[in-house]
Amino acid sequence: MSREQNTLNDGNETVLVLDFGGQYKELIARSVRSSGVYSRIVPGTTSAAEIRALNPIGIVLTGGPDSVYDPNAAKCDREILALGIPVLGICYGMQLICHYLGGKVTKQDAGEYGKVRVIPVSGDKPFLALMSHRDVVEKVPEGFRVTAKTKDYIAAAEHKEKKLYAVQFHPETAHTEGGAEIIKRFLYDVCGAKGDYQLDDYIEKTVAEIKKEVGSDKVLLGLSGGVDSSVCAALLSRAVPNQLTCVFVDHGFMRQNEGDEIEKIFSKRQLNFVRVNAKERFLRRLKSVTDPELKRKIIGEEFVRVFEEEAAKLGDIPYLAQGTIYPDIVESGGSAGAVIKSHHNVGGLPDNLKFSRVLEPLSNLFKDEVRVVGHKLNLPKKLVDRQPFPGPGLAIRIIGEVTDEKLAVLRQADLIVREIIGKLKRKPDQYFAVLTDTPSVGVKGDARTFDRVVAVRAVNTCDFMTCEYAPLPHKILGEISARITAECTEISRIVYDITGKPPATVEWE
Ligand code: XMP
Repeated sequence: MSREQNTLNDGNETVLVLDFGGQYKELIARSVRSSGVYSRIVPGTTSAAEIRALNPIGIVLTGGPDSVYDPNAAKCDREILALGIPVLGICYGMQLICHYLGGKVTKQDAGEYGKVRVIPVSGDKPFLALMSHRDVVEKVPEGFRVTAKTKDYIAAAEHKEKKLYAVQFHPETAHTEGGAEIIKRFLYDVCGAKGDYQLDDYIEKTVAEIKKEVGSDKVLLGLSGGVDSSVCAALLSRAVPNQLTCVFVDHGFMRQNEGDEIEKIFSKRQLNFVRVNAKERFLRRLKSVTDPELKRKIIGEEFVRVFEEEAAKLGDIPYLAQGTIYPDIVESGGSAGAVIKSHHNVGGLPDNLKFSRVLEPLSNLFKDEVRVVGHKLNLPKKLVDRQPFPGPGLAIRIIGEVTDEKLAVLRQADLIVREIIGKLKRKPDQYFAVLTDTPSVGVKGDARTFDRVVAVRAVNTCDFMTCEYAPLPHKILGEISARITAECTEISRIVYDITGKPPATVEWE
C-alpha cells in the first residue's frame, strides 16, 4: 500500500481533479466525494493516455494563478478534451478549455473578485457566485453556447455534444449559491454517476487490505493522540492486533498536561503502547532554527529517527504506519500545487528511512471522512471530535527559535485561551495561542517591559482548507487578555488575529 492508493476506490467510479495550482482543488475533490463519487487530485500535466488508463467518469480542471498566455503557464494535454470523457473547467480551467479550442481569453484591468451576481441565459433566477479572476473569456470556441453571464463578462459555457462544461466562478465553495447542486448536476446528469462512494464498507475493506499487505510482519505506528493517528491505531489494532506497537513520541511541544493525558487514554486500551520522552533531543536539533519549513522538516525527521530506534529495540519491524491523510499529501506538494507547508509526516520522511515500508491507511481520506470512520470504530467522541493539533506541536506556534522558556510561556497562555473559549456554547473549530517573535513596550508595576506579543487565533471552518476568523465577543477577548497578562508575567500585550485562509493559513508557521 503506497501513498495515494489504498483499496477505497477499488471498483468505485472516479472523477479526476486536474490540478493547475488552484487553492480550492481540495474543496473540489471533497465536494465531489460528498456527492457520493470518489475523486482524486492528479497533476495538471497528467497525459491523456494516463488519464484514459485511470478510466474516470469525469474530469474537473481546477483554477490556478496563471494566465493562459504566460509562457510558463500550467497547461494540460489538450487531447484530454477529445477523450469523450465529460470535463468541467473551473475558472482557469474554463480559460484553458476556451484557449485550446479557439476561443479568446483576455486580461482585464479589473476582473471580478468576491461574490458576483451570475445571470443564467435560460432565464433562471440569478445567483451569487464566488469569483476570483482577472483574465476573462471574451469569446467562446465554436460550437460552445454561453449559458450564464455576469454584468460584464461570460460566466459559463458548454458544448453539450462534446460534454465540455466551463464556469468562471467557483461552485466548490460555500460562497457560491447552489454551487453543490452545480457539481452534482455535472456528476449525475453529465457524467452519469451512480454515486457508489460511501464510507460504509471502508473499515472492512481497509482492515482486509492491511492484513493482506502486512502478513505476519510487525508494524510500528507513530501515535500522536490526534484524531488521525488514533483512528489509524484503531484500524491497525483490528487488522493486526498482536503485531502492532504504538509509539508516542513526546517531543516536548505538546500542550499543558497533554502527554500524560494521551498516555492515560492509550495505555488503558488493548494496545502495545510505548511513550518516549524526547524533548531534549528535539530542542537540541531545533537550536537556532527559525525557518518554519526547516523546523517542520527537522521535526519530521527526528520523529522517524526515534521510531527507528524504538523499532530496533523491538526486533525487526519493517512497517512504519502513520496517520497521514489526503490533505497532508496534497498540501505537501503530492500533486501539482505549490508546497504551502510540509506537513511533518510527509515532508519530513528522510530518504534513508530504515523502515522498508510505509503504511498510511488513511492517505485517501479527508479529515471529515476520518472522523466518520473514527465514530464507526467507536472511538471516544471527545477524541474523534477534538480540534486538530499539528504534529510539530507548539514548535510551529512559537515564531522564531524554540526554547524551553518560550514553550513554558506559550503553554500557559494557550491553556488560558482554550479554557476561556472552551466555555462558549458555540465554539470555533480551532482556537489557540501563538507566541510571536515581536517584542513590544509595556508597563507592569510601574516598570517598563519589552516582552513578546501573544496572538490569539480562533477560526471557523468546515474543512481546514479555507477558514474565516471567529468573531469572538469582545468580552471573551477582554477576559483572555486580562488573564494572560495577569498570569503570564512575561507577556504584556495580546493581539487577536483577524485573517482568514486564504490569504493567511490557520497556523502561523
Ligand atoms: P494550515 O496552517 O495549513 O492548517 O492552514 C490547516 C490545518 O492543519 C493543521 N496543521 C497540521 N497538522 N501536521 C498536522 O498534523 C502539520 O504539520 C500541520 N500543520 C498544520 C492545522 O492545525 C490546521 O488545523
